Amino acid sequence: MATEKLLDALNDQFNFELLSGYYYMGMASYCSDKNMNGFAHFLIEQAKEEYEHAMKFYDFIYDMDGRVRTQAMNQPENDYNSFLAVFEAALEHEKLVTSRINKLIEIAEEEKSYPTIQFLQWFVEEQLEEENSMKDIIFKLEGIKDNFQGLYLLDKELGAR
Ligand SMILES: [Fe+2]
Ligand SMILES: [Fe+2]
Repeated sequence: MATEKLLDALNDQFNFELLSGYYYMGMASYCSDKNMNGFAHFLIEQAKEEYEHAMKFYDFIYDMDGRVRTQAMNQPENDYNSFLAVFEAALEHEKLVTSRINKLIEIAEEEKSYPTIQFLQWFVEEQLEEENSMKDIIFKLEGIKDNFQGLYLLDKELGAR
């Protein structure tokens, strides 16, 4: 059904989704420290979503008769220069995830693993949404600059997620 190469790549992505959630927690901790609890809430919800993504890989790997193995994780960043820098880092990270999903699809296509190709379609759509939601926040933060009222309103908006 799937080669070792494909199963290893799926397992790497299981770990990378967990790492993504861990990165978001580093970002959330910075926002909480600056009393921007709406920003922090948004990022914590994001971290929970990444856990759910990881679990999709977890279940799929076993559906494909593979074996999940946890890996060592990188140290996430806990300090940023601004809220804009937080969301720029989030967008960069999501772009990296997108490129990894694309790479996984390439491997699945090489192996003609149709269940994997189909499984990954959900992530193609999800990545487009995630990149766009980060771009939207960056656009707003660029307009707000250091205006407190603007930041306050955006914090409220993100807190309602
Ligand atoms: Fe994800
Ligand atoms: Fe994500």
